[in-house]
This record gives sequence, C-alpha cells and structure tokens, in this order.
Amino acid sequence: MPDLLRLLTCGSVDDGKSTLIGRLLKDCGAVAEDRLAGLDDLSLLADGLEAERAQGITIDVAYLYFETGKRRFILADTPGHEQYTRNMATGASNADLAVLLVDARKGVLTQTRRHARIARLLGIRRFILAVNKMDLVGFDAAAFEAVRSEFAEFAAAIGVEDVIAIPVSALEGDNVVAPSARMTWYQGPTLIAALEAAETGSAAALPFRMAVQNVIRSEGRFYAGTVASGTVRPGDRLAILPGATAAEVARIATMDGDLDEAAAGQSVALRFAAEVDCSRGDLLAAADAPPQVADQFEAVLIWMADEALLPGRQYLLKHNTATVTAIVHEPKYKLAIDTMDELAAKTLVLNEIGVATLRTSRPLAFEPYEASRELGGLILIDRISGATVAAGLIRFALRRAENIHAQALAVTPELRAALMGQTPKLLWFTGLSGAGKSTIANLVEARLHARGRHSFLLDGDNVRLGLNSDLGFTAADRVENIRRAGAAAKLMMDAGLIVLAAFISPFRAEREMVRDTVGAENFVEIFVDTPLSEAERRDTKGLYKKARAGKLANFTGVDSPYEPPEDPAIRIDTLAMDAEAAAELIVAHLGL
Ligand code: ADX
Repeated sequence: MPDLLRLLTCGSVDDGKSTLIGRLLKDCGAVAEDRLAGLDDLSLLADGLEAERAQGITIDVAYLYFETGKRRFILADTPGHEQYTRNMATGASNADLAVLLVDARKGVLTQTRRHARIARLLGIRRFILAVNKMDLVGFDAAAFEAVRSEFAEFAAAIGVEDVIAIPVSALEGDNVVAPSARMTWYQGPTLIAALEAAETGSAAALPFRMAVQNVIRSEGRFYAGTVASGTVRPGDRLAILPGATAAEVARIATMDGDLDEAAAGQSVALRFAAEVDCSRGDLLAAADAPPQVADQFEAVLIWMADEALLPGRQYLLKHNTATVTAIVHEPKYKLAIDTMDELAAKTLVLNEIGVATLRTSRPLAFEPYEASRELGGLILIDRISGATVAAGLIRFALRRAENIHAQALAVTPELRAALMGQTPKLLWFTGLSGAGKSTIANLVEARLHARGRHSFLLDGDNVRLGLNSDLGFTAADRVENIRRAGAAAKLMMDAGLIVLAAFISPFRAEREMVRDTVGAENFVEIFVDTPLSEAERRDTKGLYKKARAGKLANFTGVDSPYEPPEDPAIRIDTLAMDAEAAAELIVAHLGL
C-alpha cells in the first residue's frame, strides 16, 4: 500500500487553483472525491470540526482523494476568500505540505504571505510554491526566478526552510504531471514528482506517546489507541498520565494478533503486567521520557465562532482523547496576520488569531504544538450549543501551574458542616432585573434563620459594591461577576453555610459553571420567572425606563440577552404567587 501525503492547497481563485487541482486529479487518472465523512484517519481537530459540521456551521473545506502508482494523497482545498482563517486552520491542521499558488505575473501578494503564515503557524514546514500561468509570461526563466527568490526570502523569515518552487501552467499542463518541453531551463521536479517525493510526518521524533481511546475488558484490561509517536515493545515501562503511576507493557494486541513492536500510526491495544488505574483520555508515554503535565498553558487560539471569546467563561476543551473544562483568560494580544504585529485585545472574534492563557479543570499531558500536533493541538467547544469555537495550539505550560497546590486542611468542610448540624447548599436565584430575586431570597433566608440555620445571602447589587466593584455589565464582566460569585459561594459552603445567591446571571454557561464548582447535588437553581413586560411595568429601580431612553446600555432584557434555565429545580411564577408564598414553597421544597 503506497503511503499517504496530506496536502493543503492555498492561493486565490485568480491564481488558478481550481484549474491546477482539476489538472492534478485528471492527469493522475484518479479519482474519488470524498468529503470529510468518508475518511477514517483524520486528526482530532478535523474530528472536532466534523462534529461541528453537524452543528450546522459551515467549514468550507473540500477534501479530495487521489493516487498515483507511488502514493495516495488527500488534498484539502480551502477557498481563499472569506473565512480563510477558519477554513485554513481546518485544512492545515493535519497537512504535511502546502502547495501555494501564485500568478507569475503578480508574484508574491499579501494574501500569499498570509496563507503561508497561517499554514506555518499550524505546523506546516514544507511548501511547494507553484508559480502558475507561466504561459502568460512567455515561459520566461527570469520571471519565475524573481517570484522564487522573493518567496524564498519571506519563507526563511517565517521559519520555513523546505520550499520547492516549480514553474507551471495549470491550464496547459506544463510541469504538473508531465515535464514541460517549453521550460527546458527548469531542471527540477514536476509538481506531482515533488509531491511523490515529499517527506511526511512531523519534524520532531518524540519518544513513545499514545492517548487511550478505549478501555477494552476481555481477559483483563486492554488500553486501545493509535500510537502518536515513538515505538513500544513488551517489557517497556510506560507512564500513565496525568497521574503519577507507571506500569510494564505485557502484550501489544491488534486485530491481526500480537506484535513485538508497535510504531507511530499503528492502532493497538496494550495490556499491562499489573492492574493499573487508567482510563480513556489518559496518555501513555515512555516512562523515562514523559511529556509535561500541567493545568495552565499559553496557547495560540484561532477563533472560529460567530460569538466572540468570553474570557472567564468555561468551555469544553478536547485534547487528544481527553475532554476537560477550561477557562480562557483575557488574550495577551492578537496577531495582525499580515504583519504578525501583536495588537492589544480584550477578546477574539471570528477568524482572529490571538495568544492567551488557559486553565483546565484537570491537568493534561501535552507536547508543545511545534513538537507534536496531536499532543499540542486542542479545540474549544461551547458547553451549551456544542459548537466548536476555537482551535488552539499549545505553546508552553505556565510555571505557576507547578507552584500552586491545594493545601490540605485539618478541619474539613464536612467537619465544619457537622458542627453546624446542617448540609451546605447553594440556592441560586436567577431572573431578570426586578423579577423579585432579592425579595424572595431575603424571605427565604429569614425563614432559615428562624429555624436555626446558618446562612448567608450574596446579592448581586451588594456584591457589585465590594468584591466586584471593578465590573460593569458587558458580557465579559457578567461572566467574571458570576465566576467570582460562584467562587465566593463555594468558600462559604466550605465554611458550612447555606448560601443564597441572587444574581441576574443571564448566561446558562456561567450557571453551569457554578453548578460544577459547588457540585450538582448541592446546587438548587431557582428561576424567578417574571416576564419582561411585568418586570418593566413594576420597574422598582427605574432602570428599565433609563434603558429604554437610551441612558443605560447593555440592560438585561432590553439590549443584553437573558437565557432562561431549561430545567430549574424550582420555578417561581411571580404572576401566580406573591413573594411570601414563593418563600414558603422554596423552604418546603428544600425540606429545611
Ligand atoms: S449579572 O447580570 O452580572 O448577574 P447582577 O445580578 O450582578 O447582574 O446585577 C444586576 C443589578 O445591577 C440589577 O438588579 C440592577 O439593579 C443593576 N444594573 C445596573 N446596570 C445594569 C444593566 N445594564 N443590566 C442589568 N442590571 C443592571
């Protein structure tokens, strides 16, 4: 079976890209056209984005398959115009090589440089510069040389050393599959010969790494996955990460029997000599040369969603076979892709590329993206919609990840709660401004107090006077407002208290985050359901009036969204009952 080269084609329509692709496919006598779904061995990123496709966001990348006697090819074709960053990021993430098309008459354009930069950023180190439309410059050697040398200089500057420049005429077929009789001054390979000869795989040869995809239980446990790098043999000691255990490999099983050795690209199931604690998402690595493990990283993020990045929001993070939650901090900067200048940024929007730090809920075993695309690439997913919002390329772990450890305390939350004779809970009141959250929460707390319960009421307006006095009402500030409120509530619960929190908390994602922070079993979501028209009619603080008059921006329900709970533990219909009745209902529901 001839081996496989993945290539990315880039350049604008005018440069003759589709003509070239058509020519390649036709002259190779190939051809099956296939979309993503038909291919079984695409990388994590492509997998994630395939799921994305199901979510209805169009990633405009066509995958084409063709083969010659020497090799099989998967060609990712990304339209050069709109959405180029998102499309290219998808197509480039697992390509071995990029074919960059330029028009011999126009030479290296801004767009050429932009595409080359993105391809390089996504880990492509080999380029073929196809200088097209040589027929329109009279097959002139000097014209070709001018473009070649200009690009060579640029490529070196962005860290690409492997560039083959080929003069072609996609339209007439010169130097695509057959050597051109009209450019005898050119001694190099044809495009197809260069593609057949190109090396594949990533530059760095890493020691053994394999992410556990599945645990198979049959006569003991087998840990199945695809070897990402290095080799493994029975008797090798492997670290099981991110934990701190190691074990000796007893067997390497495959569908076709056991192996004495498995190498990168092979799908295997490993059995250890002893019982170990290992599950899907763990990384197996050579015990004497393990990768880093951390829960805080700096990464390049390529933003792919229509909604902007919300620093502080929890996203799902997929890294290899592991899924964790992660918070992205405010970007350090974004990149002006045409110049690579670092620009100040508070967020990232569709097609922007920036650098930010991430904090994950559990440590990840990783390699920098530059060393391994599999172990350094990640995707971020919106927790509520399930849509992919970004691709990430890990640069390095932050030191502080290693230097802060949870401190074990002698008096535990359980002991404190026991002394108070109660079970800490978080009663989370959400609803529009003026819905009645504070009023009802107050009445509930008074009842709890009367029954000898130890409690505390965190109220949005009050917390915003102190702890959160630096925050406003932009989406990003509301995310941070709720993150801090959740963290404060958690501390109070650890102190043994029953905590009541009354915040608009307009976004489902942050309410979910708080639920995760304190544990679902301790979290009681109470939806104070007052229709906007009613809250506005009451307008106890006069804020709706101000907002409608344009004197107060980002007001919830007016020009800022409210996402009602889908399945609250308690729903209070304030049109149907008064605050006293609501408080009774809540206390009764809790059985306190
Ligand atoms: S949240 O959206 O971040 O959860 P929070 O509950 O802390 O909001 O604060 C809401 C209170 O701030 C409202 O009850 C209202 O009194 C006041 N407020 C001032 N400006 C706004 C605004 N633009 N939108 C909503 N509430 C506002």
